[in-house]
Amino acid sequence: MSEATPVEELTREEAAVELERLAGLIAEADAAYYQEDAPLMTDAEYDAARLRNAAIEARFPDLKREDSPSDRVGATAHEGFAKAAHAAPMLSLDNAFSDEDVSDFADRIRRFLGLGAEEEVAITAEPKIDGLSLSLTYEKGRLKRAATRGNGEVGEDVTANARTLDDIPENLSGKGWPDMIEIRGEVYMTKQDFAALNAREEAAGRKVFANPRNAAAGSLRQLDVEVTKSRPLRFFAYAWAAESAAFAETQHEAVQKFADWGFSINPMMIRAGTVEELLGAYRDIEEQRADLPYDIDGVVYKVDRLDWQQRLGFVSRAPRWAIAHKFPAEKATTELLNIEIQVGRTGSLTPVARLQPVTVGGVVVSNATLHNEDEIARLGVKPGDTVEIQRAGDVIPQVLRVVKDGGGKPWQMPHQCPICGSDAVREIDAKGEEDVRRRCTGGLVCPAQAVERLKHFVSRKALDIDGLGAKQIQLFHEKGVLKGPQDIFRLADAIEAAGLPPLEEWEGFGKVSAKKLLDAIDARRTVPFARFLNGLGIRHVGQTTSQLFARTFLKWDVFWANVVSAAEEGESSEAWEALAGIDGIGATAVNALCDFEREVHNREMLEALLSKLTIQDEAKAASDSPVAGKTIVFTGTLERMTRDEAKARASALGAKVSGSVSAKTDLLVAGPGAGSKLKKAQDLGVQTMTEDEWFDLIGG
Ligand code: IVH
Repeated sequence: MSEATPVEELTREEAAVELERLAGLIAEADAAYYQEDAPLMTDAEYDAARLRNAAIEARFPDLKREDSPSDRVGATAHEGFAKAAHAAPMLSLDNAFSDEDVSDFADRIRRFLGLGAEEEVAITAEPKIDGLSLSLTYEKGRLKRAATRGNGEVGEDVTANARTLDDIPENLSGKGWPDMIEIRGEVYMTKQDFAALNAREEAAGRKVFANPRNAAAGSLRQLDVEVTKSRPLRFFAYAWAAESAAFAETQHEAVQKFADWGFSINPMMIRAGTVEELLGAYRDIEEQRADLPYDIDGVVYKVDRLDWQQRLGFVSRAPRWAIAHKFPAEKATTELLNIEIQVGRTGSLTPVARLQPVTVGGVVVSNATLHNEDEIARLGVKPGDTVEIQRAGDVIPQVLRVVKDGGGKPWQMPHQCPICGSDAVREIDAKGEEDVRRRCTGGLVCPAQAVERLKHFVSRKALDIDGLGAKQIQLFHEKGVLKGPQDIFRLADAIEAAGLPPLEEWEGFGKVSAKKLLDAIDARRTVPFARFLNGLGIRHVGQTTSQLFARTFLKWDVFWANVVSAAEEGESSEAWEALAGIDGIGATAVNALCDFEREVHNREMLEALLSKLTIQDEAKAASDSPVAGKTIVFTGTLERMTRDEAKARASALGAKVSGSVSAKTDLLVAGPGAGSKLKKAQDLGVQTMTEDEWFDLIGG
């Protein structure tokens, strides 16, 4: 089934498969976005995946998964920071994409509040800053704690880091602040500071950030405060929560007070009396967008009167009194100069459009992706044509359509890899369908694939070796020093074997940086199971799949012994089933592992790597605990630990934690205030217990 199958046409079986795929995809995207600060997809693609998931769930409510993305806001907190529970949840905003959505929003508010047509509803409009939200707790005017949003309920405690920002006052100035308040706003980086930071990072051989938002998130969430301090982060205050006393009557007045108390506030906020005025403000802000020093991705509207905000309240993940009016993707027209082929890590050939440079939304664009040969045929595009391109969020710009035929010759996708000359073919899958991508069959013989695999191996999500970025990998590969990842761990020897002088004599290195690089490599001689597996770059075995294998097998040797047996004994053997039977793992991933293992050069590479590295066991989940293998739901207020701690503890004991009660639930732990979930559990005859009983069960 292709992703394009409309939801109405899905069979039950297909819907279940699609829900599984979307749950994995969204979880992976969340992890990349929130924990790795490296987005996998555009905001639009992400929104589309969530919408499709919700539409399928609406059609087949009983197929809704226990790990449904609909029940989650973002990802859970990063492991390295202490957890910080928010006094009131940090929610997200609903989106409006058209003028009509905005007038619907205003109508809904009127209807909800029961207002007559003559009554004015003042609404504020302000830019939606593309950064990461932060909640600052002030007690008696002093900054006590700073927490990221995390999953909305529990974030990461980044107090020490937040204190390094000039825009965040240690002590509130002025007067009139409540004894206790959480000030919320956006941490961001200006476009200029972002460019300078990336230039520095690249020169130092570190990985560059995809966009200012990721740079801001990555800079704030540093375990080393000194790193955060060196990064040019800023903060706009725009919201608050958990105030001990009222301090304003309107949104506008509240934000003006923030300025008196020492915060930076966005100067573009206005207050409008009608939808027409709101839309006018939207267009004004959109017009200035490219010239603003920071990235914005829409305009946020908020009901001005706070008593009305109070009455309007929240629905699931978002307030009823606010909405984000998103900007459409930015477009421009330019000449397509040439179509070149890029060879990826797994050999896929991607046609890339080289463009006459053109400014799109403040960014100069000179390349755009054309995806694959079918897309080129669909667009009917060829060199010399004038094309319309689009840049949405942080992704690679896309070619939308041909605006003017340049009269050139039709373009043909090569059937040989342009780098190594091996045949490039379109694979046929199990169902007899042709893959849209053409792949180079050269494997590691192909230098392009080899370099991309090396880059992946050292990337943030894999071995994460400092000082070994794309530039250095390219250089070492060209010089014949690095042939495979195993050579990284014998770099000095490999340099000598290639007949080259020691690294410290190379241009751009020197004694200090050569030593730093070798030390950074040494620091990764012990590597966690999941990172190592992900680093191998096996097709269909990415970050999430690697983590699942690690959590299931705990020890690398045990896991790999299974892979070896599965590769020998084939599909449906016991070893094969042990791998493919894991929740969330499919036959495709297991077969890809087996294919990898069957190749002699892969086995040699792995052996060489394992002789130099220690693969860390995944922390053991106690399988002999009384809750191992049980599905547990927590509800109501927990008093002895935060919800997230409780979940983490249960997972560590081998339980599966779910957000919703179903017939599959084994146990519901209910704190005070438990409502519908408790009732449902009782109706279904699911065992329920209090938090104290839970602690007794698991042994305190
Ligand atoms: S108000 C309960 N105002 O957008 C409402 N949010 O999609 C609190 N954001 O998580 C949010 N600029 O990180 C608000 N001027 C602004 C904003 C803004 C950016 C972010 C914020 C929030 C996300 C929601």
